[in-house]
Amino acid sequence: MSDGRALARAFLEQQRLLGGDAVILSDSRPLLPDSRTVGQSERGPSHPSPTVRQSDRPTPLPPPGLSFDPPGGDLFATDPVAQARSLAAIAELVASCVKCRLCEGRAHTVPGEGPADARLVVVGEGPGRVEDETGRPFVGPAGELLTKILAAIELPRERVFICNIVKCRPPENRQPQYDEIAACVPYLFRQIELIKPQVILAMGGTAAQTLLNTKQALGALRNHVHRFRGIPVVVTYHPAALLRNPNWKKPTWDDVRIARRLIA
Ligand code: URA
Ligand code: SF4
Repeated sequence: MSDGRALARAFLEQQRLLGGDAVILSDSRPLLPDSRTVGQSERGPSHPSPTVRQSDRPTPLPPPGLSFDPPGGDLFATDPVAQARSLAAIAELVASCVKCRLCEGRAHTVPGEGPADARLVVVGEGPGRVEDETGRPFVGPAGELLTKILAAIELPRERVFICNIVKCRPPENRQPQYDEIAACVPYLFRQIELIKPQVILAMGGTAAQTLLNTKQALGALRNHVHRFRGIPVVVTYHPAALLRNPNWKKPTWDDVRIARRLIA
């Protein structure tokens, strides 16, 4: 099969995965050139086209949103999290952590995984059942969908750092409570500080509200490019929510494409 046809097939597969039945055209390019362009080309090559066609301009990125700048670790701190020099060192601290009640029910801690030089960091809420059993983030049903979403933006999950706000599974997958989040976020903040990603993708309200230090609803936070310590943060739905509500697939696809465009 020719490259073009293979690309078209991959594209349609992505649309089916993320957009349901509808065929969504990337960047809303029209299928046919508009009449003005046809008219211009009929004037022949000696008349250069004076305008750029609307559809050739890239869609503008969403406007800036919130900015959260929590203080980073300093060299002279005695806090072991601030002192941790590698992702492995953080994972080791997490493995023995008893800073909140979520340590009581866990089988494994789930610190997160991915390369230390990842350009994208994906942040979810907290480990589910399969994650707790394996110690790996996003490996259950929601994780399978996330893996497909990342493949669709040509970022295989092996090249992304994937983690959660809390590193131990909340009982019955309930939402993590405020004090549990407060106890756990220093690990995440240090992970981000070490990785220095180009973009953070916050999946779901818990991730978005924690990274942006806000109580605003997910719907209000989408469609802006926020900042965490200067790093762009794109907010979207949680893949587990997409499994329950397929109507959110199309907006999620829009969000992840925005995240992809922010990566060099
Ligand atoms: N949901 C999450 O938020 N994180 C996981 O790791 C798995 C499911
Ligand atoms: Fe420690 Fe975080 Fe686990 Fe709580 S959830 S015990 S703070 S690692």
